[in-house]
Amino acid sequence: MRELIVKVVGNEEIAPGIYEIEFRLPEDINFRCGQFVNLSVGDGGHLLRRPFAILFYDRATHTAGVCYQVKGAGTKLLSEKKDGDELTCVIPLGNGFVLREEEKRVALIGGGVGVFPLLSVLGQYHDSDKHFRCYMGFRNASYVNTFGQFDHRSDALFVATDDGSFGRKGTAVSEFFADFEQAKPDVIFACGPIPMLRALKSGLAERNIHTPCYVSLEERMGCGIGACLVCVCHKANGQANVRVCKDGPVFEIGEVEI
Ligand SMILES: Cc1cc2nc3c(=O)[nH]c(=O)nc-3n(C[C@H](O)[C@H](O)[C@H](O)COP(=O)(O)OP(=O)(O)OC[C@H]3O[C@@H](n4cnc5c(N)ncnc54)[C@H](O)[C@@H]3O)c2cc1C
Ligand code: FES
Repeated sequence: MRELIVKVVGNEEIAPGIYEIEFRLPEDINFRCGQFVNLSVGDGGHLLRRPFAILFYDRATHTAGVCYQVKGAGTKLLSEKKDGDELTCVIPLGNGFVLREEEKRVALIGGGVGVFPLLSVLGQYHDSDKHFRCYMGFRNASYVNTFGQFDHRSDALFVATDDGSFGRKGTAVSEFFADFEQAKPDVIFACGPIPMLRALKSGLAERNIHTPCYVSLEERMGCGIGACLVCVCHKANGQANVRVCKDGPVFEIGEVEI
């Protein structure tokens, strides 16, 4: 984990309200898929950095990328950054996703901005013997993004929207369960809004499916390095708390209360 000054080398709107920003680091980092960066968005009242999943890291050019949805003041400021602007960041953060040697068939389930950390999994393992089936869910057609990047790198891709305006009407989770018998995954990675993760957890329990399942949580954060406790969530056994930034953001689905 390093605190670095980085230079913006691209910041483009890829779908309405969704941007991809790329920035060059002054030095190499060790990056694992599913990790995140805490990125400054401006000065003054917006000094607190914002957490974003790292979409990719190119070791040859020391360039990293992040996709973000403009939500509030911080991401609005970020969307105004131009090539050559400097930002500060702490990178890389969190534990990330880990694929074991024996886990060959992988299901990736992403909803909304939750698709971004999953794209980094495809990036890291694109030249491997892993097989990916991907399930993406969005509010409607105008929110669909990164479709081409998922389509290009996965064995099968299923897209659902809440209103059926793109792909099938439904959710990433309903698509996953509809395809489960065909997919028979060795492991499941998921990221998305809490109702989506709850539907996944209860769906697995109802169907008595015991496939290992890991979820990446997107709690509100302050420091991003384990010091302020803003991001604490409960362990499922009620015995202890975990810090999403430091102990996660990836947890086994049964380990945390969602
Ligand atoms: C590990 C992790 C990875 C994330 N990856 C992405 C990503 O790849 N793309 C993306 O679009 N969004 C991602 N988010 C959510 C993103 O951090 C928030 O949307 C963003 O911080 C909102 O900032 P804002 O100033 O525009 O909004 P405001 O609502 O004005 O933010 C005010 C404060 O709340 C915090 N905050 C608000 N919403 C969230 C949230 N959902 N999660 C964490 N902190 C929040 C902000 O950091 C800030 O301190 C991620 C969150 C986490 C925790
Ligand atoms: S954000 Fe400060 S402890 Fe996690």
